Amino acid sequence: MSNGGKDLLAEGRRRIEWAGRNMPVVAAIRERFAKERPLAGKRVGACLHVTTETANLMLTLRDGGAAVALCASNPLSTQDDVVAALNAAGIPVGSRRGEDSAAYYKNVRAVLDTRPNLVMDDGADLIATLHKERADLLPGVTAGTEETTTGVIRLRAMERDGALKIPLVAVNAAQTKHMFDNRYGTGQSTIDGILRATNCLLAGSTFVVAGYGWCGRGLASRARGMGARVIVVEVDPLRALEAAMDGFRVMPMADAAREGDIFVTVTGNIRIVTGEHLQVMKDGAILANSGHFNVELDLGALAAMATGRRQVRDNVEEFALKDGRRLFVLAEGRLVNLAAAEGHPAQVMDMSFANQALVAEWVLGGRAKLEPRVHVVPPDIDAGVARLKLDSMGIRIDELTAEQRRYMTSWQSGTE
Ligand code: NAI
Repeated sequence: MSNGGKDLLAEGRRRIEWAGRNMPVVAAIRERFAKERPLAGKRVGACLHVTTETANLMLTLRDGGAAVALCASNPLSTQDDVVAALNAAGIPVGSRRGEDSAAYYKNVRAVLDTRPNLVMDDGADLIATLHKERADLLPGVTAGTEETTTGVIRLRAMERDGALKIPLVAVNAAQTKHMFDNRYGTGQSTIDGILRATNCLLAGSTFVVAGYGWCGRGLASRARGMGARVIVVEVDPLRALEAAMDGFRVMPMADAAREGDIFVTVTGNIRIVTGEHLQVMKDGAILANSGHFNVELDLGALAAMATGRRQVRDNVEEFALKDGRRLFVLAEGRLVNLAAAEGHPAQVMDMSFANQALVAEWVLGGRAKLEPRVHVVPPDIDAGVARLKLDSMGIRIDELTAEQRRYMTSWQSGTE
């Protein structure tokens, strides 16, 4: 096994250890799990980005007593050295970076073949495949967890259709997840992916962010911090107003398309950049997506307009158009932060994955009696993760006095 001369297994182990150093909350849970073995005898099937941070979560679940199997939640996000290290640690992972759709779903099905009691998902492909193809396994599945916004949207749609047959915990709904992972994690790692792919200068560039949700807010503020002139595109009037008052220019994509040097979609929706927009873009414009699926940029329309296409750098494809313009697409329009960089920094995944581990303990430990619908993470788990994170950062905060507690729950005192 080699990776540019490096030993994949050794490299994977080193990088997993490095991420682990920056995941103190998960490390504390892992230590407790190793002693208490709360997942003993349980099987966990996970479909997550195969990164160093995910590896730390998998090892935590394994040390908690679970038999764990993992597959990728995106064909381009898998880190092959992490696969090697996890396989050596007794956690089977069949995924490889750059696998095609058939291989992707073969690996999803292989995880289901392990007959998991808990399905841990990122984007809901595992849970949708479980319901569509392996309904025979449903009686053995205690619950599922979902990591990202798009997955929660799909699962709520299943719930509305009466199709959801297992209780599902939306980890993305935890405040210690979306406020930090989606905002600061996506904000930083999306910029990281764009820079690693292109090495372009952000200062002075016009940077268009489509979607001013948790991810878009983080991305817009980081791009501004690097000196870009940021334009926000939105459909929600409140979010658009917020972007305007945060100091960004806000306009429809049809207008932004003429101005942007770099476009990033992060809406969780479909066809945000269409052929009509591509027609008016400047020569040299760069297009990237950081939303979950590769459907936000209409690459079919771009391919139809192009007279030629070629790979000009790793993760950068050039599309030559009839009128001589060239547009550049990063990472095939898939999650640019995971495909062209390493995904979120460990410090934020520490909180997301602490939630995953604690929710796994909660649902598999038999403490929860949950209906087959979408649930939020219990507030005590969420607040507990925040406290552990603050502790790990050496930050102390005040506590309410008894008088303050009474005051905040009474109506008797008013103007004095
Ligand atoms: P969110 O729901 O907070 O924000 C999405 C925003 O997009 C909303 O404000 C919505 O109004 C806007 N939007 C929807 N359709 C639009 C359109 N046609 N044009 C312009 N704006 C539009 O969701 P969040 O948490 O920001 O997630 C966004 C996407 O990013 C999801 O697909 C999510 O799964 C993904 N995600 C990606 C991560 C990564 O590592 N790159 C990490 C976390 C989430």
